[in-house]
Amino acid sequence: MADFTTLIQGWFRRNQRDLPWRHTNDPYKIWLSEVILQQTRVDQGLNYYLNFTTKFPTVFDLANAAEDEVLNLWQGLGYYSRARNLHASAKQVVVDFDGVFPNNYEGIKSLKGVGDYTASAISSICFGLPHAVVDGNVYRVLSRYLEISTPIDSTQGKKDFAEIADKFLDVHNPGDHNQALMEIGALICLPKNPSCETCPLVGSCSAFSSKTQLNFPVKAKKTKVVKRYLNYLVLFDGKNTVIQKRVGKGIWQGLYDFPFIEKEKLNGLELSELNQYEPIEIIQDGQLKHVLSHQELYVSFWIVKVVKLNLDESQITVPIAAIETFPLPQLLIRYIQQSRLFGAD
Ligand code: ADE
Repeated sequence: MADFTTLIQGWFRRNQRDLPWRHTNDPYKIWLSEVILQQTRVDQGLNYYLNFTTKFPTVFDLANAAEDEVLNLWQGLGYYSRARNLHASAKQVVVDFDGVFPNNYEGIKSLKGVGDYTASAISSICFGLPHAVVDGNVYRVLSRYLEISTPIDSTQGKKDFAEIADKFLDVHNPGDHNQALMEIGALICLPKNPSCETCPLVGSCSAFSSKTQLNFPVKAKKTKVVKRYLNYLVLFDGKNTVIQKRVGKGIWQGLYDFPFIEKEKLNGLELSELNQYEPIEIIQDGQLKHVLSHQELYVSFWIVKVVKLNLDESQITVPIAAIETFPLPQLLIRYIQQSRLFGAD
C-alpha cells in the first residue's frame, strides 16, 4: 500500500485546507474539532471551533462551564447529546486524568461519547499512534477505490472497512494519512460530483476505470423518516412567555422550548383544546417545516394571549426579549427570527 499512501499524502501536503486545528497538536483542540466535524462540514464547523476554543481555551474552562453555556455554543449543530458528552468528558479529563488529556487509544476511548472514530483521529493526529479512521469520507473513497459492495451500514461492512482501512494505513505517519484520506473524501471524492480528474488516486481507482463511482458506497437500508405534526404555544401576557427545559432522552434534551401539542395530522389542532389557558386571543403565527436526520417536523406556532401565565413545575416564565439567552433548538431560532411577536420590527 506504499503507493496509495505516498499519493494521498503528497496530494495532502500540496492541497490541504489551511484550518486552525491543523496548526496544533493539543489533543483537547483536536478533540473539539473532530466532534464538531462529525456534526457538520468544515465551512460551518470552523466558526463553532473558533467560538469553543475562544470561550473555553482549555479543558478546565470547558469542565467548569455551566451546561447551558455549552449548549448555547453548540446551538444549531443538532444532536445535542454530543455537546453534553463533550462537557461530561471535559470533567472526566479533569477529575480522572488530572486535567491531562489521555495520550493513548484506550484512555481516549474511555471518555464519554468517544467512539472508535474519534479515538483513532485523536490518537493518530496528536500522538502518531497507528489507528485508522473510518468516517463517511473514508467509506466513500475506499469503497470506490476497490469497488467494495458490502453495505457500509451492515455489521459485515463495518468490519470489512475497518480491516481494509488498517491495511492501507501508513503506520509511520498515521495522522497525515488519516487526514489525507478524509480530505480527499471531503474535496474530491464527493458523493454526487466527484472530481476524479484531479484525484491523486485516479490511476488506480477501480470505480473510475469502470465508471461506477456513483454506485458506491452501497447502503443496505434507506433512512426511515417519520413525519410529526407539532403545535407550539407561545403563551403571552403582554411581556413574558413560558418555556420548559426538555428532559428525557430526546434529541433536544437540555434545550428549552415552548409548551406544545402533538397531533396525528397537519392542522389537527382544535382551538378549543387551548381553553385551559383561558385565552383572550389566539393568533396563528406561521408554520415551519424542519428536517432532522430521522424526522420531518411540520410545526404550527400559535400566540396565545392570556391575562395570567400559569406554570407547571417544569416551566419558567421569561421576558420575550430574553428568550435567546436560553439554548434553543434551531427550529425555534428560525421561528423567532420570523415571528411577529419576537421579530425585529
Ligand atoms: N473531517 C473530519 N475530520 C477531518 C479531518 N481531520 N480532516 C479532514 N476532514 C475531516
